[in-house]
Amino acid sequence: MQDHLNLDRPSRWVERFAALVEPGARALDLACGGGRHTRLLAARGARVTAIDRDAAAIARLDGRPGVRALCADLENGHWPLADEQFDALVVANYLHRPLFSDLRRCLAPAGVLIYETFMVGNERFGRPSNPDFLLRAGELLDLCAGMWIVAFEQGEIDDIKPAMVQRICAIQPPATGPRIP
Ligand SMILES: C[S@@+](CC[C@H](N)C(=O)[O-])C[C@H]1O[C@@H](n2cnc3c(N)ncnc32)[C@H](O)[C@@H]1O
Repeated sequence: MQDHLNLDRPSRWVERFAALVEPGARALDLACGGGRHTRLLAARGARVTAIDRDAAAIARLDGRPGVRALCADLENGHWPLADEQFDALVVANYLHRPLFSDLRRCLAPAGVLIYETFMVGNERFGRPSNPDFLLRAGELLDLCAGMWIVAFEQGEIDDIKPAMVQRICAIQPPATGPRIP
């Protein structure tokens, strides 16, 4: 998988669906790492919150135009973005299942979720191999139950290095449906 070898270049999946993120959108890059998707979204004119526990990575993103960089541990039981809502949420190569309900809650009506990470079967190829860090078959569809599924894929990819991945793009239903004339 090219993306976990070269973490400067955005994931092709995220790049593809970033087209759904409008200029001015409130975007969250969860466990942003070096910020390849933070930079992608900010370049589209989104106002990006980038969050990670890696203080050095966060310091490098801090002060970039359109970026709010936050250093926080996402796994200490305290959701650091309570009361905030986002129009776009990107999660790449990160999984901490207890956050799923917070992720759904922080997505605004009509907000887009773009999620891509490793799934069961990746053990054959190396790390991550811990089941805690590997999605089960179809698990992102469960996370997105009730949302509008734009695209979903799961399986082996062989992009420089083989890996088992699962990825989804889904939209939170808007608060009100379309008007019927
Ligand atoms: C494989 S990297 C992916 C980075 C980025 N999403 C990307 O795709 O380029 C996983 C990231 O999760 C972050 N992370 C791991 N555990 C974390 C935690 N408890 N709280 C916040 N960030 C965490 C790491 O610091 C790392 O930057």
